[in-house]
Amino acid sequence: VFIRNIWYPCAWSHEIGRSLFERWICNEPMVFFRTEAGKPVALYNRCVHRRAPLSKGQLIGDRLQCGYHGLEYDCSGKCVKIPGQDAIPAGAAVKSYPVADKWRFLWVWPGDPDKADASLIPDLHWNDSPGWVAPGDTLTIGCNYLVDLDNLMDLSHLTYLHGRTIGTPYVSEFPSTTQVIGERVNVTRWMIDRPAPPLFQRVGGFRQNVDRWQIIDWTAPGNVVIDVGCAPTGSGAPQGDRSKGIEARSLNLVTPMTERQTLYLWSYCRNYKLDDESVTKTIYEDVKRTFFEDKDMLEAQQHLIDTDSPQAHTISLRVDSGPMQVRRIIERILKREAQGEPLAA
Ligand SMILES: [Fe+2]
Repeated sequence: VFIRNIWYPCAWSHEIGRSLFERWICNEPMVFFRTEAGKPVALYNRCVHRRAPLSKGQLIGDRLQCGYHGLEYDCSGKCVKIPGQDAIPAGAAVKSYPVADKWRFLWVWPGDPDKADASLIPDLHWNDSPGWVAPGDTLTIGCNYLVDLDNLMDLSHLTYLHGRTIGTPYVSEFPSTTQVIGERVNVTRWMIDRPAPPLFQRVGGFRQNVDRWQIIDWTAPGNVVIDVGCAPTGSGAPQGDRSKGIEARSLNLVTPMTERQTLYLWSYCRNYKLDDESVTKTIYEDVKRTFFEDKDMLEAQQHLIDTDSPQAHTISLRVDSGPMQVRRIIERILKREAQGEPLAA
């Protein structure tokens, strides 16, 4: 069961154009394209006639023609032409979904279209602002999206899984604090007077010890913005002066495709060395490698979750407070939706 009345990031905006793009979101098959005027469209990806995927059809102007028997649909999902007959049966339509381009991502709203308000899309301006450069990519992970969110909300795993890039022996030793603010979850960790991790040394050249931060901000359903960076120890970063350091926003957008497939859109936005292509390349390669390490672990973990006895004993740790709060709020939103209550303020 997934939250329905909410925006899900479902692709990079540039991926959607005049060819048909198929993607499952929240257990529903969807087909995406743009009109001749460039407006994004999302339809249920199944012809109302024989269940052929509409993504195997073609665009004729702004109409989508099914590739099996030629039925044509307009952008609202209404069937407007049936070859060989004039009468179009009542109910000959597929669902159309509200979609919006924002921050270089495409967002889709699977729930009640009347509630889809574009102002509810979270702020990710770092991905689309002058003064920031943001290499990124897409990954699909064979796990439930909550398992992926557990990973993102507890960065103590950096020490063990990502030692070649952003992990260091000390990350897991420093405690983090979890704060719930309305329906956001914030997890903050400061690591004082320690060596910079390999990636930060590569792009920032830190030879001396640094004060390093990870400030995670989660909003439903799976938008995780991590404020990361470091500055030389004693330069005042914990007090708010980051001028001697480097900082970035690691955007991690996690969307359920099915119960066992997760779409992971990531972007690493930085505000330093903007024109240095080699820094961009190093960051892209390091982050990508890091996330493949996660993918490998998450899929192996999901396999055991699915095959292990449900009674098997597992324990929770102090580092689990962030993941736990996220799951709790998702449960709360699901319950509110099931009871037909309005969206939260
Ligand atoms: Fe990770």
